[in-house]
Amino acid sequence: MREKREILADNVHLSEDGKCVVIIDQRALPNEVIELTLSTAKEMYDAIKSLAVRGAPAIGICAGYSLYCLAQQIDAADFETFYAQLVKDKAYLDSSRPTAVNLSWALNRMEKLVLDNRDKEVEEIVRLMGVEAENIQREDIEMCRKISEYGLSLLKNGDGVLTHCNAGPLATSRYGTAIGPMLLGHERGMQFHVFSDETRPLLQGARLTSYELQKAGVDVTLICDNMASLVMKNGWVQACFVGCDRIAANGDAANKIGTSGVAILAKHYGIPMYVLGPTSTIDMNCKSGDEIVIELRDEDEIRSKFYEKPMALREVKCYNPAFDVTDHELITAIITEKGICRAPYTESLAKLFESTAE
Ligand code: MRU
Repeated sequence: MREKREILADNVHLSEDGKCVVIIDQRALPNEVIELTLSTAKEMYDAIKSLAVRGAPAIGICAGYSLYCLAQQIDAADFETFYAQLVKDKAYLDSSRPTAVNLSWALNRMEKLVLDNRDKEVEEIVRLMGVEAENIQREDIEMCRKISEYGLSLLKNGDGVLTHCNAGPLATSRYGTAIGPMLLGHERGMQFHVFSDETRPLLQGARLTSYELQKAGVDVTLICDNMASLVMKNGWVQACFVGCDRIAANGDAANKIGTSGVAILAKHYGIPMYVLGPTSTIDMNCKSGDEIVIELRDEDEIRSKFYEKPMALREVKCYNPAFDVTDHELITAIITEKGICRAPYTESLAKLFESTAE
């Protein structure tokens, strides 16, 4: 029960009766903290698609719990009927967002568990799915903590850090990835000055990152995305820390649109560019960033979202990719829960998975 209560403290968790997924609606932040209860496949799909729950690890955790809740709703005593419906639910959830690999990673992990236990009663398989979904979350908490430790080892007291989008507790469980080192260091009495890019068009940096850091008591300054260059030129940034949605085997890293621009600026000003993420975000089946599918989102997110009135004519074309890929040559190091990887990434990333197999 102790573990259960701990998990209930996180922003994605099961309802008391274990039948629904409960999330903090990230769309309402920073103005309101609202919980949403998701019980149908459509509600779960919509929550991921509309970014009510977002951030690669949090999407994976939500997907794991969602498939477990949907499995409970399948009215079948025999494995074949149960599995046929489960595969449909899985494919539907998987189609909600294409770029963050954690979504398919978590769903594949749940399916593998089901197949590995196919000789058991359906009821028992469903129970095991609940345990597996909790394991995904529990492991994420541990991974974030380790990533935060490794990240902190790269910082000095008083450093300025620039971050883009939100890779904090809301995007994961507990500390987060790119924000974790500063939260952990702050707990230990260290001081950092964090510059949070607002992150157009959906403002994850303004709405979520500056919210998390301000609430935690970390010194944070919100800037518009186009101010990053000046802040770097002024000498206020000693490191850039960003999260990731999918890392290819060669180290190319997909993250929120604008991240590659930050990396190019960082190179110009001689500032180290660190990408932080769990090994579940590394897709060894993807050779390079060219193979990463980039999600395209609604044009109105640029034209009118968050504005009282539209800021462009309705007929003006907009291009709204949600992510870009940072070339591995621009990345100083990739920080995972298993350690700090440096170039050549084809070798250092592959080693992470060799040690898992041992
Ligand atoms: O579209 P979003 O808000 O889901 O994009 C999130 C990011 O780009 C994060 O940096 C990434 O998922 C890492 S979260 C630890």
